[in-house]
Amino acid sequence: METVLKATDLCKTFSNESVQQHVLKNLNLEIRKGDFTVIMGDSGAGKSTLLYSLSGMDRPSLGSITYGNEEISDYSNDKLAVFRRRHCGFVFQQNYLNDTMSVMDNIIVSGLLKSKNRKDIAERAKKLL
Ligand SMILES: Nc1ncnc2c1ncn2[C@@H]1O[C@H](COP(=O)(O)OP(=O)(O)O)[C@@H](O)[C@H]1O
Ligand SMILES: [Mg+2]
Repeated sequence: METVLKATDLCKTFSNESVQQHVLKNLNLEIRKGDFTVIMGDSGAGKSTLLYSLSGMDRPSLGSITYGNEEISDYSNDKLAVFRRRHCGFVFQQNYLNDTMSVMDNIIVSGLLKSKNRKDIAERAKKLL
């Protein structure tokens, strides 16, 4: 099967004051179409850090990430935002709902980023709920 997502020599380092923490160290990963991949590790091992990089929510310190034939680690912030909207679904550990809006509107608002047809979006949201 074709490779969908590939990380090559991925590194992520956090620097706090004088301390550097190397969370991802030359990580290589290949995910093919149709794969169901599970990432396991102790709390603090770097699972979320890896997922934030792979999904374009954060940038690696070093290394490359390709989605299909595109090198997403080179993308501008705007291009990364479009990449996330088109290609990434993400269920966060904490929920990031807007608590001033109804559940329905929380779902509709993400649909509005993609399309202006509020009626179609509302129908789709109802189905998903
Ligand atoms: N934004 C950040 N700034 C500094 N350190 C961070 C940041 N995010 C994560 N870390 C550190 O990186 C390590 C890996 O964290 P994380 O990826 O959240 O682990 P996991 O999801 O596997 O529990 C932890 O030691 C955490 O404290
Ligand atoms: Mg985590």
